[in-house]
Amino acid sequence: MNFLWGVATSAYQIEGASENDWTEWERLGKLKDPRARCGKAAGHRERRRSDLALLPTIGANAYRFSLEWSRIEPRRGRLEESALLEARETVESLRRLGIEPVVTLHHYTHPTWFWAEGGWEKRESVEWFRRFAAAAASAFGDLVNLWVTVNEPIVLLLGGYVAGLIPPGQRSFRAASRALEHLLRAHEEAAAALREKNRSARIGFAHNMMDFAPDRETSALDRKLVESGERLYNLALLEAIATGDMVWSLPGEGRAQFRLADLPDANDYVGVNYYSRVHLRFGLAPPWRGSFAYRDPSSRGLTEMGWEIHPLGFERVLRAAAEVGRPLVVTENGIAVRDDRRRRDFLREHTLVLAHARKTGLPVEGYFYWSLLDNFEWLEAFRPRFGLYEVDYATFARRRRPSADLFAELGKRFTAVAGDGRSCAASRE
Ligand code: FCB
Repeated sequence: MNFLWGVATSAYQIEGASENDWTEWERLGKLKDPRARCGKAAGHRERRRSDLALLPTIGANAYRFSLEWSRIEPRRGRLEESALLEARETVESLRRLGIEPVVTLHHYTHPTWFWAEGGWEKRESVEWFRRFAAAAASAFGDLVNLWVTVNEPIVLLLGGYVAGLIPPGQRSFRAASRALEHLLRAHEEAAAALREKNRSARIGFAHNMMDFAPDRETSALDRKLVESGERLYNLALLEAIATGDMVWSLPGEGRAQFRLADLPDANDYVGVNYYSRVHLRFGLAPPWRGSFAYRDPSSRGLTEMGWEIHPLGFERVLRAAAEVGRPLVVTENGIAVRDDRRRRDFLREHTLVLAHARKTGLPVEGYFYWSLLDNFEWLEAFRPRFGLYEVDYATFARRRRPSADLFAELGKRFTAVAGDGRSCAASRE
């Protein structure tokens, strides 16, 4: 199998129209624009066939998408066969198109019953997630070689349990630590369930990694903050994957430590989501004793997310991830901008870094641009435009951006080189 060259999406962000924790969150007025609603998102559910047909036209040989747990298990323990069948059809369509399916089980959203029953803080969440993974495995696991169990576990927990910005909206590091332990155990169990159906399935997380820098070069306190921020956000999970020991600490808030003996074996590759660099500045405001900001020292201009464009950070995080000793897959990398020329610059610069990283020996086996289409960007709703295809939200019409052509062009260079047998899409054996 060649290098995986594709795009990534998530169910809720392009399909919407499901009753889950985010629809509740929206009704509570928790998005930046309290009146914003996901609705049908990019209308993908009704356009699945034609959207998937775009993939070969952008030179993709792989597609990362996610399942919507709330659709598959709308009530606890009640599996919706039609939703599983729909997912199987997607996988089959991809295979027919010659596209490797990369399936994410969990991408931020939860069924509403999940929180009513206590969420990730409850030990039972491990079993709930295992059962969901087993259902997916038995419905179409025979056709999938590459799985992402959980998208951005650390962001999910910091955002949901520490900052309180996304469901369940808590602010407790202790609760976050308990949730983390269960979430990682859920991953171990899910990995076992997926492999039961397909022994050669390869399993990992999509881990969001940022490049960190001190806001004031000369400040020892800022530099110290960078060290602890990098550990909390980037490195703790990587070390747990490498060793089975999780040490997670937020200075001033607490420290959690636990052992997950099966975690190293439950990770065949490391998925990296990379977008930006963040500058940290020491201060006295709890919970963090610090603040962060996106600076623009290279004058490329911040993105619509307010993020710095920093290609060199991409190589730095890939190097850090490679320390785990597993193949790497860039499970997301992308930019939100209206001016498509800036997207093309972003793609050129980041794929240059990617090529350099591979040339110097980093085992990167795939790259997924975020995203195929403009979509519902969580708290930011529909303002940021990440797509290779523009979506007109009034009519759901798609319009190809020139960056889609560039993406196809760049892909030729990455997929021309034959695989070396260690490919993530190939078997584990
Ligand atoms: C990532 C998320 C993805 C999308 C991009 C912009 O952190 O995984 O859903 O929102 O950011």
